[in-house]
Amino acid sequence: MNQHMPPEPVPFIDIGAQRRRLGKAIDIATKRVLDHCQFISGPEVAQLEEVLSAYCGAKHVITCANGTDALVMVLMATGVGPGDAVICPSFTFCATASPVARTGGTPLFVDVDETTFNMTRASLEHGVAAARKLGLKPKAVIPVDLFGQSADHDGIGELARAEGLLVVDDAA
Ligand SMILES: Cc1ncc(COP(=O)(O)O)c(C=O)c1O
Repeated sequence: MNQHMPPEPVPFIDIGAQRRRLGKAIDIATKRVLDHCQFISGPEVAQLEEVLSAYCGAKHVITCANGTDALVMVLMATGVGPGDAVICPSFTFCATASPVARTGGTPLFVDVDETTFNMTRASLEHGVAAARKLGLKPKAVIPVDLFGQSADHDGIGELARAEGLLVVDDAA
């Protein structure tokens, strides 16, 4: 006789699993920082930037408090402001677009691919055209890699180069 077993539910977010795996190491590191009291730009910050630089192959790594600050910092550094469109995927967390509004630019949302939920080269192309139609200057694009699935960075990068768009990858 066939017995139908209901599938085990898989939680969308399981922070406990991370805690079980990394908890001890995090507790030790947290205590070390609390003991030496260098809470701002302490040795762990320099070490993290070094390790991240090697891991990503990036010449410069600047750490900050959170993903929102990271996006705001980059947009401020590149001078995004009124009249600029920054193209964002329509399916993401609100913090992809809110830094654009904070710097005075206009977040312009484009459709996502129905299999990856991510922006595509074609949707970026529509976004660039839509921005121009609205009288905005397409200045940057923020692709997001959602649920572990990568956006089409080859296609997006190629079009961004051709259109002179800055690519800010939101990997939060
Ligand atoms: C896609 C995406 N971008 C940006 C952020 C903002 O990160 P933070 O909450 O660290 O400011 C998040 C946070 O969940 C996110 O999911």
